[in-house]
Amino acid sequence: MGQINRDNFYELVRSRKSIRQFKNQPVPADVLNRILEAATHAPSGKNRQNWRFFVVQGKKRDEYLQHSQKSWAGIKDILQQRLKPSLYEFTQRFFYTLGEAPVLIFAYSHNSTDERYLTSIGSVYMAVQNINLACVAEGLGCCTMGAPLEIKKDVDHFLGITELEEYKKGELELLCGVVLGYPDHNPPKAPRQTENRITFLND
Ligand SMILES: Cc1cc2nc3c(=O)[nH]c(=O)nc-3n(C[C@H](O)[C@H](O)[C@H](O)COP(=O)(O)O)c2cc1C
Repeated sequence: MGQINRDNFYELVRSRKSIRQFKNQPVPADVLNRILEAATHAPSGKNRQNWRFFVVQGKKRDEYLQHSQKSWAGIKDILQQRLKPSLYEFTQRFFYTLGEAPVLIFAYSHNSTDERYLTSIGSVYMAVQNINLACVAEGLGCCTMGAPLEIKKDVDHFLGITELEEYKKGELELLCGVVLGYPDHNPPKAPRQTENRITFLND
């Protein structure tokens, strides 16, 4: 721990932000492998390391776009009420193109009866956060996406997971997608809210 620079760590955490537009530049395999390895260093309930990642690139990634467009239909009405028109249009474009991200990662939980449901979800999201932070360290950007949950079954079929024994037993569950690549925009940092987020209880 001694050689880890504290300031660098907080800078890394603070500079992470969701990236939704990417350069037409592939992510080298060694970089991607480091990021995925970082994911596996996350803590997990009962150390079950119950994350399962499916990494989609190339033609398969192009194929996914039609599914992403479908997931837009499930979410657009809520966003229309919430977002100003320019942001709504940007978001729609993002769902249609995934910001040209060259890599898509789908994070699944392998649930089991010896691990509580919520804990197993938490473990996977911890690993996803490691992916987010590793991307910053590698000069990449990413966006964690709940949108694929709108089309869970489609994604399961698209990835061929439905053929796996664990899936047939009802143990594999999609929790989120992550799109990643080299950033092609520099959006402002989303403001952080501090009110009522942390409560200290002292005697
Ligand atoms: C569980 C989860 C689901 C998310 N789903 C989406 C999504 O479907 N589409 C999207 O554009 N962003 C999605 N995001 C990104 C959030 O919108 C983003 O993290 C939030 O606005 C804060 O911005 P920041 O990541 O730049 O700090 C998701 C983030 C999380 C953690």
